[in-house]
Amino acid sequence: MDNFETLRIVDNFYQTSAFFPMPTVLVSTVSPSGMTNLGSYSLCFPYYIAGKDYYAMILECRNSSNTCQNILRTKKCALNFIPDDKRYFREAVRLGFPGDTTEEKMKDCIFDLSESDLGADRPKIVDVSFQVFECTWNDSLENAFEDKPGNLEGYPAPFRNFNGITSTFGAHFVLKIDRILMKKKYSDAIINGVRAAAFPKVPVDYGYRDSTNFWMSRFRRPFPEQIQAKEGDVKSVIYAAKRIDPEVTFTDEACGKLTKIPRVFLKAALTKMVEIAKSEGISVIDEAALQIINDKRREEKKNRK
Ligand SMILES: Cc1cc2nc3c(=O)[nH]c(=O)nc-3n(C[C@H](O)[C@H](O)[C@H](O)COP(=O)(O)O)c2cc1C
Repeated sequence: MDNFETLRIVDNFYQTSAFFPMPTVLVSTVSPSGMTNLGSYSLCFPYYIAGKDYYAMILECRNSSNTCQNILRTKKCALNFIPDDKRYFREAVRLGFPGDTTEEKMKDCIFDLSESDLGADRPKIVDVSFQVFECTWNDSLENAFEDKPGNLEGYPAPFRNFNGITSTFGAHFVLKIDRILMKKKYSDAIINGVRAAAFPKVPVDYGYRDSTNFWMSRFRRPFPEQIQAKEGDVKSVIYAAKRIDPEVTFTDEACGKLTKIPRVFLKAALTKMVEIAKSEGISVIDEAALQIINDKRREEKKNRK
């Protein structure tokens, strides 16, 4: 403990009392006049990542911002992840100055925008982004559909816990991801195998800021660190496999191929395999059947795109 100091936890602690790595996202929304508005945001993270019937991001924002007011009204936004470039970051800081109207801030905006083909009600997307998440606010959580635009001087209580207007000046949005768009170079890498050279130039917002500056770090080529797989022993796979479903059995050879699955995921993985085996009319999972099951899982993943 002697080598740590204690800091006070105050409003905006992630900026005032910490160094907190965050993304740089331009949130595009549609203004009342139908123009696309760009606001800069870093408090934007994956929220529902599995186990729900949709995937979601969370966005934390000032509730008097154009972005918040537009999401309350239209429910739609796009999260544009911009690459590391000093010019882009300077522009993001300009677009992040509170109080400018959409017309004022977008007049001289350096970013080219493209129409979304998801519908005329969607905001445009930023061309230079390496990836874009097109989203719809889930206003059904916590009955947040009751929250309306207006109240630019601050919202009155009561407040919601995690979706909609959450404090006098704050809002949180659970954003259902409708689509992930990515530049071809990077989506190819994800599908065909990522190498260090195929990473987009992702900048890091350092969190900490003072009254004069935001701080960013430049992109540096990433390096890989191999996952230290603990190979389980085949006996524990055989033991677990026997207990999934009496109608589907695994051969010992097939179990031998599954020893790299971490123990905590083993039951779920075997259950999924049995489910696919049954749908394919397979009652004995041997090495050939494993191949079929794996192909099927890959196919399912692709179809979810
Ligand atoms: C890099 C950067 C990150 C920011 N992140 C956030 C954020 O996560 N939440 C927030 O409320 N404001 C954030 N801001 C400030 C907003 O950009 C600012 O409130 C701006 O007025 C929003 O634009 P809008 O009114 O067009 O939505 C950030 C600003 C910058 C420059």
